[in-house]
Amino acid sequence: MRGIVLAGGHGTRLHPLTLSVSKQLLPVNDKPLIYYPLSVLMLAGIRDITVISTPTDLPQLRRLLGNGAHLGLNIDYVSQSHPGGLAEAFILASDQIGDGPVALVLGDNVFHGHNFYEILQSHARDDIDGCVLFGYPVEDPHRYGVGETDDEGRLVSLEEKPANPRSNRAIVGLYFYDNDVVDIAKNLRPSPRGELEITDVNLEYVRRGKARLVDLGRGFAWLDAGTPSSLLAAGQYVQVLEERQGVRIACVEEVALRMGFIDSETCYRLGARQSSSAYGAYVRTIAQELADTPVSAR
Ligand code: TTP
Repeated sequence: MRGIVLAGGHGTRLHPLTLSVSKQLLPVNDKPLIYYPLSVLMLAGIRDITVISTPTDLPQLRRLLGNGAHLGLNIDYVSQSHPGGLAEAFILASDQIGDGPVALVLGDNVFHGHNFYEILQSHARDDIDGCVLFGYPVEDPHRYGVGETDDEGRLVSLEEKPANPRSNRAIVGLYFYDNDVVDIAKNLRPSPRGELEITDVNLEYVRRGKARLVDLGRGFAWLDAGTPSSLLAAGQYVQVLEERQGVRIACVEEVALRMGFIDSETCYRLGARQSSSAYGAYVRTIAQELADTPVSAR
């Protein structure tokens, strides 16, 4: 399965922060925002990853992530000259997707919660038939795409920013699709705001009876970092957990090591390259702690 991190956009709600820096490179506590969605794809076992961003921001993202080989990944980059909507990702990356399935994660979404690894592993399947979306209970569903399911977890309705939401389950920025998504995206018409809408893609899967909605329960955290207050809240959430537990969320070197994408020597070297920071020290410690642990037990 190919993964896409959609990391372009204007970031207008974060101006002036994003006048000269990509939103996805802003800090969420101790690491750049893009580490969080990237680590989600990695936890799903995905190693072939396309990063889509603006022509201006791509060089800096490339400087941060390179070709991904240091993390045991294969990362390539695709330019999106104008933010033409989330669904444009499947057209821009159609060569990379080829005839396989694809996972899309939004570059400004932060996920954290118990069992997330198991949830990802069970849904990021090469034999996926249709699409899998994730629902999250929110206080203000009228701001989101909102889904309603039947007893078997099949999505039966999907409404974008409804005035009278039928449920409180917002659709989060992580989506798994079979290969039909490329053709579906290519046949979309831009919405009144001029974008190819992910909701229109998902509605086509609902129409085909092939959309599933998986609930991320109330013990889960889904945050997006699109406004100054939500960016700060995401940073504070991560800081509280990291300082309390002594673990790090979305430490990509650790994820690569635990997933068996790299060995502990490589991980240690990556930590040594960031020698003055507490983050680098953590990477070195994890590399040492897991040196003799088989991948299956990490
Ligand atoms: P949004 O938050 O909807 O848009 P934005 O990042 O441009 O921000 P703002 O509304 O403040 O102007 O985008 C969600 C994510 O998807 C974000 O990581 C940027 C990315 N994105 C693209 O890469 N290309 C696009 O065409 C769009 C619409 C978003």
